Amino acid sequence: MLNFDYAYMMADVVGPKLGVTTAELDQKLEPTRNIHAKLQRARQEGALPFYDLPFQDDLEPLLELAGEISGKFTTFVVLGIGGSALGTSAIARALLPLYDTAGKSSRPRLLVLDNVDPDGIGAALESLDPDTTGFCVISKSGTTVETMSQFLVCREWVKGAVGTTYREHFVLITDPVAGVLRQLANDEGYPSLPVPAGVGGRFSVFTPVGLLPLAVAGIDVQGLLAGAASICPQCTCPELYDNPAYLNGVLQYLSYTKGANINVMMPYSDRLRDVADWYRQLWAESLGKKQDLSGKTVFVGPTPINALGATDQHSQLQLYMEGPYDKNVTFLTVDEQRQVVIPEAADIPELAYLGGQSLSSLLHNEQKATAISLARAGRPNCTIRLQAINPETIGALFYLFEVQTVFAGALFNVDPLDQPGVESGKVITSALMGRPGFEQSRQDVEKWEINAKSRVLTVGQPLIS
Ligand code: PA5
Repeated sequence: MLNFDYAYMMADVVGPKLGVTTAELDQKLEPTRNIHAKLQRARQEGALPFYDLPFQDDLEPLLELAGEISGKFTTFVVLGIGGSALGTSAIARALLPLYDTAGKSSRPRLLVLDNVDPDGIGAALESLDPDTTGFCVISKSGTTVETMSQFLVCREWVKGAVGTTYREHFVLITDPVAGVLRQLANDEGYPSLPVPAGVGGRFSVFTPVGLLPLAVAGIDVQGLLAGAASICPQCTCPELYDNPAYLNGVLQYLSYTKGANINVMMPYSDRLRDVADWYRQLWAESLGKKQDLSGKTVFVGPTPINALGATDQHSQLQLYMEGPYDKNVTFLTVDEQRQVVIPEAADIPELAYLGGQSLSSLLHNEQKATAISLARAGRPNCTIRLQAINPETIGALFYLFEVQTVFAGALFNVDPLDQPGVESGKVITSALMGRPGFEQSRQDVEKWEINAKSRVLTVGQPLIS
């Protein structure tokens, strides 16, 4: 069960500066019904296939493949970036043991490598045994430079150790027809699974993109889907006050229009820490847009920020409490947690009040205190409470945020499924890396660099290696 508490988003509690009034919510009742009708029409026409992923009933091939993989390898490494990696990382952190340093699990250890930093990739490979390591190469487009480079590095590494059977160490998850990865799967017989057409990276966690690696690691992916399916009726109900995805979408939007253009997500849970990371991409890439749906230049979009409670109370909270009035905060909390009791310490009278209380109670009270302090300072915040962390609640939470984001796209009047702003950097990277077909872009960039005056301050002496 999830519970969405939005009392502290409201003007009657936090004041009118950033708080939302009931009248403002009421004004969104009819627009919400209209957006709802539009989204459901698009869903029926097949334009929003993510909505129906929780109801897929053909998981058998994926589960079979996951079983085979988990019997073969001791480590399974995801190679991917952005939407091809963040959901898996977040769910794995939420549902797998946090510190399985002794490798107690009978399932393969799951690693997600989502960068091309040689220190990261190099150190990861150094720590692994190629004979017992499998790789899941995930790229919807099948061309993303970071993932393709990781693939080439890891392919060479495995090849060097196992020789001609190296392909058995790879599974490719990519577009059903297009891209280099699909071509490789077709031509060279790598095992592969498709990313269903029309499902973009950040909405793909309930496709093989998330489900295969999570199933290999032993996570109950059917439970995840069941959790998402269980919240679907409420997240696809046209009535604003009954639909948590629409309600939070409207609250975030109204709060943005009042100046809260920075949205902090702050789980009070180590296991939910990376949910904020996944959400940050979902919210930022979906809503940060130059043009609206009519082609008008709008430069719109909230800026998501991650924080972790209680840790970041000692890092960022000062800013949230006393800095500019430009933020709201979404807390994630968990009711049922592991029981760790703070021991009585009769020898330290100053700490006697803590003895016998649980760490969970301390964490909950810290969250409550933060929420109240922010609200009393006129800083809006809301709390999503999970009864417990399990596949069902995590599936529900992810589904809620996906629907909220698509709905918010309609409120902001932008396309939440595209990311045109990322293209320019991709083109320049291709040009700088000497990719054929990008020669003109390379010349343009070089000219641009010459015109942009260089201003570099060097500090210290170069290392003599
Ligand atoms: O959400 C998205 O669409 C992006 O973040 C992509 O997932 C990311 O750019 C990786 O793309 P691809 O899966 O095509 O390699």
